[in-house]
Amino acid sequence: MSANYKNWVPNGMVMGFVAGTAALAFGASAAVLCGKKLGKAQKPIAGLLAAGSAMTALSTLWLKICQDRYSYDGSRQLSRQIIEGTAEYIDVRDGGIALDVGCGSGALTIACAKRNPGAKFIGIDRWGKEYASFSKELCESNAAEEGVADNTEFMQGDAVHLDFEDDTFDAVTSNYVYHNITGTDRKELLRETFRVLKKGGCFAIHDIMSKSKYGDIQAFADELRKEGFESVSVIDTTKGKFMSPAEAALMGLGGSALMIGRK
Ligand SMILES: C[S@@+](CC[C@H](N)C(=O)[O-])C[C@H]1O[C@@H](n2cnc3c(N)ncnc32)[C@H](O)[C@@H]1O
Repeated sequence: MSANYKNWVPNGMVMGFVAGTAALAFGASAAVLCGKKLGKAQKPIAGLLAAGSAMTALSTLWLKICQDRYSYDGSRQLSRQIIEGTAEYIDVRDGGIALDVGCGSGALTIACAKRNPGAKFIGIDRWGKEYASFSKELCESNAAEEGVADNTEFMQGDAVHLDFEDDTFDAVTSNYVYHNITGTDRKELLRETFRVLKKGGCFAIHDIMSKSKYGDIQAFADELRKEGFESVSVIDTTKGKFMSPAEAALMGLGGSALMIGRK
């Protein structure tokens, strides 16, 4: 067996779109073949259902393309590139402890733990129904497969209110989590993550940091610098670091950026 990090586009979502396409196509056919009772409405109803089916089919195709490009088994392996590229910024002294917020299938926690074998890495996630293939058990089995069961731990948790004291961790990291969380200012989510980071601890947070999701992220980086955070930078990862601008557009990942620095 080897680690199975699953996919950021869950199979369940693809299957849901396949089922939707089939149901709409069936409805359109039924409206054409036996919809005489619908009278004048028959054609528009059949047309609407057929158009809906075509759109859902296109969405399914797009999801499949994204799934293939993300896959750890595919030829592109975009997820692996992002995870390993983010983990490169996490250095923790032996005996130190670090946090991965929204760890999913454990990929980033495990990549960091492999790079820092003398430190302990905690991955937290809410493991809700939108990413149903991710779970604590999956993280633990992946950590065992990768030989880092002893320096990793996984637990249920919420990025909005982290269940840790201030200044607990020597490093904090996260990948593609905060943009999923609605109803909270995402800069406040970053603040909550930095709250549990010790003074001098490093951070590497990768997310879709577009203006619509985060507001002015460069102004936020300036705020942090004024407060004494060191070496803060926001790296646009869609200009070749992790992906090209065209790939970012194709995958709906425009605005992806890596915020790094020290508290
Ligand atoms: C796109 S996945 C990324 C998973 C992982 N970080 C990775 O890079 O493979 C987003 C993850 O964020 C988690 N998540 C979303 N909202 C959360 C919250 N409020 N607290 C903790 N985890 C959350 C989801 O459960 C999911 O596992």
